[in-house]
Amino acid sequence: MPKRKKIALIGAGNIGGELAALCARKELGDVVLFDIADKEGLAKGKALDLEQNGALLGYDCSIKGTSSWDDCAGADVVIVTAGVPRKPGMSRDDLLTINLKIIRNVAENIKAKCPDALVIVISNPLDAMVYEMKKVTGFPRARVVGMAGALDSARFGLFLAHELGCSVKDVRAMVLGGHGDTMVPVTSYCTVYGVPVKTKISKERLDAIVARTRDGGGEIVKLMGTSAYYAPASGAVVMAEAFLHDQKRILPCAVFLDGEYGYKDLYMGVPAVIGGEGIEKVLEIELTTEEKAMLEKSAAAVRELIEASKKL
Ligand code: APR
Repeated sequence: MPKRKKIALIGAGNIGGELAALCARKELGDVVLFDIADKEGLAKGKALDLEQNGALLGYDCSIKGTSSWDDCAGADVVIVTAGVPRKPGMSRDDLLTINLKIIRNVAENIKAKCPDALVIVISNPLDAMVYEMKKVTGFPRARVVGMAGALDSARFGLFLAHELGCSVKDVRAMVLGGHGDTMVPVTSYCTVYGVPVKTKISKERLDAIVARTRDGGGEIVKLMGTSAYYAPASGAVVMAEAFLHDQKRILPCAVFLDGEYGYKDLYMGVPAVIGGEGIEKVLEIELTTEEKAMLEKSAAAVRELIEASKKL
């Protein structure tokens, strides 16, 4: 008998809840929504609400809220949002000290209970958190990935579509590098129905769109007082789906670099193929001199965070 896949969501907060809703609606598998003991009620309540939602919408999957790692055992995919989100005025990097401790604990448990899972990290500061996840679990790079590029590229694509007055479906946008102020929106590869956007949008407007993309998360934090959750959840679900359905999708995501783009021992956003083996391949694309310089700056910022983590 084929068994349903199991998806463990670590953190039942804003993103965790939306992740559970999306996984259930897409019937990606049975869902376990995990949080710390103090928040077990939140995890259980959201799970029950979502199972009742299934009775209305007609999806078949079990959704269980828990604070026991035993319930996560044997998961095929683990998506990690454990940690605290940003408050207005905070940068993602400000979260380092608090979230590092949490990620170390989560990683130990994943290593013990979900040794064969694909782990997708969302917690910020993303590149440092996913680096720590790989370090503590000791999993191969194919199975530890960070979600950031998909979200940043979606934001970039939306702003480009608004500017062009066209459907977001016809825009292809790519953002590489670290998930922070130094992210690299790669305008040379952004197209609308195959036509480079550079030929359709003035440099001045394109620069403004790039700046808005870089601050895409901060803009939402200012409005809501906490960080975004719908699009971050969707970014991770697209990645999980590519893995579970062996779709071989090309998505920008934070991958452990082993010489690609000239970088080693570092997580950074690059275009990668996600299929049944996890991260199956990193695509190396030709960058302009300016883009290479931006990537270098981004790598330096990520390295700084990783070095800071090592001291904590
Ligand atoms: N194990 C599991 N869950 C934990 C742990 C832990 N050790 N520590 C904290 N959590 C839980 C919190 O109890 C909370 O319910 O993580 C959840 C986080 O949820 P929210 O505070 O709503 O944060 P959210 O908006 O979901 O963002 C989570 O993702 O994008 C990043 O910057 C964001 O780092 C933040 C993370």
